[in-house]
Amino acid sequence: MGSRKIGVGFIGLGHNALGHIRAHIALGKSDLVAFCDRNPNRVEAARREFGGDALYTTEDIYSNPGVEAISIHTGDGQHREPFVKAVQAGKHVLVEKPVANTEEDVLAMVEAANSAGRSLKIQVGYILRFNPLFEAIHKAAREGKLGNIYYVEADYVHNLLYQAGQTDEMTGRNWFLEEELPMVGGGSHALDLLRWISGKEVVRASAYSNHFTFLEMRSDDCQVALFQFEDGSIAKVAALYGPRCEMAPCYNLRLYGTNGTVDRDRIAISSSTADVHPAFEQIDAPRVRGHPYGPEIEDWLDAITNDRPTRTPLHDGANSTLATLRAVQAACEGRAVEVAVLAAESDK
Ligand SMILES: NC(=O)c1ccc[n+]([C@@H]2O[C@H](COP(=O)([O-])OP(=O)(O)OC[C@H]3O[C@@H](n4cnc5c(N)ncnc54)[C@H](O)[C@@H]3O)[C@@H](O)[C@H]2O)c1
Repeated sequence: MGSRKIGVGFIGLGHNALGHIRAHIALGKSDLVAFCDRNPNRVEAARREFGGDALYTTEDIYSNPGVEAISIHTGDGQHREPFVKAVQAGKHVLVEKPVANTEEDVLAMVEAANSAGRSLKIQVGYILRFNPLFEAIHKAAREGKLGNIYYVEADYVHNLLYQAGQTDEMTGRNWFLEEELPMVGGGSHALDLLRWISGKEVVRASAYSNHFTFLEMRSDDCQVALFQFEDGSIAKVAALYGPRCEMAPCYNLRLYGTNGTVDRDRIAISSSTADVHPAFEQIDAPRVRGHPYGPEIEDWLDAITNDRPTRTPLHDGANSTLATLRAVQAACEGRAVEVAVLAAESDK
């Protein structure tokens, strides 16, 4: 592991970016060179919390040679412009999930990264891959303990009604209400977890949705999708933004394999072919509340330092986003929709 500090700039200084900046400070592996937001009040708030005078409201973050890497935390539909400018300027990027809110934006971002003249380390913010419980489940699955996994499910059940009060003071708009797609914004977290743990790619999506509980949202607030993987195995993802309950424990993760089962944070493994009712045991891993931004950031910085791929490179994160965008299309059109899989061109 190298130990040099990476110069990092941040674009978009909302709640999510502040969590990342605090995690950078706790890690101590980066120099925080620039903070950028179109809202000067947010830049000033960052200056008050983090000190220093290297704070920008303008775009000179891209030309600053001290900024080696850019962390992008704009709203879901606002990632494309800063991402493309960052990779064209030769910066490594952490971009929050979903990669974008439209297929056109995702593909333009992948194209821009593939066209960059050098190997850029891109991390897509699918943070569940860094949750220790899910890391332990990923390890067990990839070691073959569950056998061949044939059905998986995970949900993003999160009461986000408070977002109705998050109107942007600069634009007078509220992207959470006007642009967010629950299956893409939240559901892609769950699908990404299922893709990562199973190691399988989605080839087809079908979905239903309805709109009963979060009426301020433009999009349907309840979206439920079935995904078919390349080998015929199946995933189910529900994305609910207005449930009257706390977040679903362990994202309701369930995995069914030919040799074992995971039920949220418990695992049952058959000891022999005759052992058809193995008992569930608690999975031996720390239970973490909130988002483990530190390990995600550390993986990105270490990938830059050591010239290796990140845990969630661009094509991989894009495949989670694209499959959920196709699920939204499937719900709108009332039919199953094919999903194209991106290959790992840019993730050197
Ligand atoms: N990985 C996770 O678990 C996780 C958790 C929360 C949020 N997120 C994601 O993080 C992103 C940000 O979420 P948020 O809740 O902080 O949003 P937010 O709307 O509160 O903040 C976004 C900020 O970006 C600024 N901005 C937008 N376009 C800009 C531009 N072109 N240049 C400069 N500034 C610009 C806005 O002024 C705003 O301050 C979203 O994509 C969200 O889905 C991810």
